[in-house]
Amino acid sequence: MVVTTVRLQEVTRSIEKHLLALEVFEDQRAFIAPIEQSLKLAASVDHFQVAILVDQVVVGYALYFTTLDRTGNIPQQLKDSAGRYTEVVRFLVDRHFQRRGIGTVALSMLVDHICATHGAVKIWMSYCKGNTASGKLFRKVGFQQIDVQEEQEFVLVFET
Ligand SMILES: CC(C)(COP(=O)(O)OP(=O)(O)OC[C@H]1O[C@@H](n2cnc3c(N)ncnc32)[C@H](O)[C@@H]1OP(=O)(O)O)[C@@H](O)C(=O)NCCC(=O)NCCS
Repeated sequence: MVVTTVRLQEVTRSIEKHLLALEVFEDQRAFIAPIEQSLKLAASVDHFQVAILVDQVVVGYALYFTTLDRTGNIPQQLKDSAGRYTEVVRFLVDRHFQRRGIGTVALSMLVDHICATHGAVKIWMSYCKGNTASGKLFRKVGFQQIDVQEEQEFVLVFET
């Protein structure tokens, strides 16, 4: 199936109840925090969230964090030359809608949105070893693995 109608939408109260109903497969639960937690985290400073919709149906969710490194503690590889540090913290597609290309389209749109809205030129994501779908998805969209050592995770960076 070719997906052409994906869009990102601001999370409003009415969208929130649909987000709370999103599900991942049993074996994916270890890879992503419950949506309730993400919605709470989204209220924190410098966090931003979007809903992923297909034909008016809420099918997914993304949460990202973007800030300027004021401490100087963030590894150089994860921030851009202006010191902006941007991470996609959560990204999911509901299990009923997976493997239709929605994640690929939505993540590409999210990257464009973050760059256009915040002037980010470097975005990073990580995924747990064993999360094959995420590994494929992130690479397909143009993220490249970097040599930041994390015991349980791979770290990838997208640069415009
Ligand atoms: C990762 C995720 C967002 C992918 O969404 P999706 O809409 O299924 O992605 P797409 O259909 O665009 O597929 C992207 C690629 O991943 C592959 N893929 C998707 N699900 C897969 C699976 N379960 N096993 C193996 N490969 C998979 C697709 O085949 C495609 O690669 P290809 O074009 O080389 O064939 C979805 O699996 C998910 O929500 N997982 C649980 C949450 C999670 O782990 N999030 C990431 C960490 S925050």
